Order: sequence, then structure tokens, then C-alpha cells
Amino acid sequence: MKQKIMINLLLASSMLLVFSGIAQAEGDSAAGNEINSMCVGCHGIQGYRTAFPKAYNVPKIGGQHAEYLVKALEGYRDGTRSHPSMTALAKSLTDQQIKDLAAFYASN
Ligand code: HEC
Repeated sequence: MKQKIMINLLLASSMLLVFSGIAQAEGDSAAGNEINSMCVGCHGIQGYRTAFPKAYNVPKIGGQHAEYLVKALEGYRDGTRSHPSMTALAKSLTDQQIKDLAAFYASN
């Protein structure tokens, strides 16, 4: 009986380790939510447009795959994608912040 409890405990704690490992690799959406104040001004607008709809459309990023969002932000940061405001912003983000933001938008 005692042995069974021990085994269950071991299983439970190794599962926890696995899950927390995944969470870190994919970013922390709560942390992303905090950084989101830098993005919501453009990406949070209904209809996904800035104040000048003809001048520029803002892509919908909520609900995209986290991996896609990370790639896009890294692209702006390293210059493989270019857009004046996104490049400037992405350059100010750390790898972890990019992952956190991606996790946040992927779940919203
Ligand atoms: C000044 C307005 C503005 C702000 C602030 C802004 N973005 Fe953007 N974002 C844009 C525009 C416009 C595009 C489309 C650029 C293009 O055509 O490449 C874009 C594109 C993107 C894309 C690529 C989407 C795709 O499908 O191609 C991602 C991801 C993204 N932004 C994330 C963010 C994040 C995260 C933040 C906050 C750190 C942020 N943006 C802040 C205007 C903004």
C-alpha cells in the first residue's frame, strides 16, 4: 500500500516537472499579458486596423500558433521581415518576452 502511494507521488511529481518544462519552453502567457500593453494599441483594435484604415491594416495575431508568432517577431527583429513599427518594437524584446507574447496571443 505504502509503495503504491510512493509510486503515485513519483509519477505525479515527474509529470509536474514535464509540464513546467513545457510551459517555460513555450512562454508564459501571464507574463505576455503584461507586455501586451505595448501591442494592444495596434493589435487590439476591433477590425484589426489602426486609426487610418487605408494607410495600414494590422494583422490579427490573437489565436495564431505560438510558433508562427515567435517566427514573425524574430523575423522583424533580425530583419528578414520589415515594417517600421514592428521592427522597432521587436528589437526591444528579449527571446523570453517574444515567447511570452506568443503564448499570450496564441491563447487569446
Ligand atoms: C504601431 C502599431 C503596432 C504596434 C504597437 C504593434 N504592432 Fe505588430 N504589427 C503592426 C502592423 C502594421 C503589422 C503588419 C506589418 C507587416 O505588414 O509586416 C504587424 C505585424 C505583427 C505580426 C506579424 C503578423 C503576421 O501574421 O504577419 C506580429 C506577430 C506582431 N505584429 C506582433 C506584435 C506584438 C507582439 C506587439 C507588441 C510587442 C506588436 N505587434 C505591436 C502594427 C503594430
